[in-house]
Amino acid sequence: MKPQELKTGIFLDGGNAAESLEIRDLLGFLDGQTTNPTLISKNPEARRRLEQGMKFTEREILDFYRQVVVTISGLVPEGSVSVEVFADGSTPAEAMLTQGREMYSWIRNARIKFPCSLEGLKAAEQAVKEGMRINMTLCFSQQQAAAVYAATRGATKGQVFVSPFVGRLDDQGENGMDVVANIIALYKLGDGHVQVLTASVRTLDHLLYALKLGSDVITAPFEILKAWGEQGMPLPRPEYQYPSGSLKPIPYAEIGLDRRWLAYDIRHSLTDKGMEKFSADWKGMIGQEDVRKIA
Ligand code: G3P
Repeated sequence: MKPQELKTGIFLDGGNAAESLEIRDLLGFLDGQTTNPTLISKNPEARRRLEQGMKFTEREILDFYRQVVVTISGLVPEGSVSVEVFADGSTPAEAMLTQGREMYSWIRNARIKFPCSLEGLKAAEQAVKEGMRINMTLCFSQQQAAAVYAATRGATKGQVFVSPFVGRLDDQGENGMDVVANIIALYKLGDGHVQVLTASVRTLDHLLYALKLGSDVITAPFEILKAWGEQGMPLPRPEYQYPSGSLKPIPYAEIGLDRRWLAYDIRHSLTDKGMEKFSADWKGMIGQEDVRKIA
């Protein structure tokens, strides 16, 4: 059972429905799920097939992604399942939207992930007008989160998530949790149409601090949710302090939410790298002939 005082949505970050079931059974609830191309490439059935040297065609991998998502959707019917479009540095917004529209039709609780890049934001602006629920992924800065807010103005509450990636900032010595704190503080100036989903969670402290900050949603990998569940789902006490150690602080920027989205500085090298990695993992599952088609 979900503890009554726990207001944050708890999502599993993964691409394997067996894990979703195990976590839902352990916690007694699961509010939703996020997936991405890397996680789908780690799905045991996909791995088995690839290890036997059998790559997918482009259609087959989409059908496989769809099957995984359909099964997970049935396990979290009240929540949402984030499904990510293929996007590398040269994918135009229109191509992301075409994929997004198809993926959105897969399940009734889909939420489409677009990257926090120029083309991803263009796609987001249009997608919300079409009524799609979206999750803006690969967010590494307050400026990107401000652009997400501005590009999706007019969306209904809960229609848009922004996903700051904590662990990847930590990996380069910066305090990723500061970005979560800064975005939450920035969004207090707004109308609440974008919700903060803390992602790239690698430790229980990421989870606890995101809870303390009041992140709307947290998505965490299987091992983290398993450890949290086995410890009895602890919540941060009022005196809880996040152990940021030697990570470099990321200060809050006074940028406001009233500009046009293109006026914010949305570039971030980790967004570009993240798109490269997701698209490489996706292409890695597809046979050569078909990779040429999406390239
Ligand atoms: O939710 C996004 C997540 O899958 C990325 O996590 O550990 O690859 O940075 P990670």
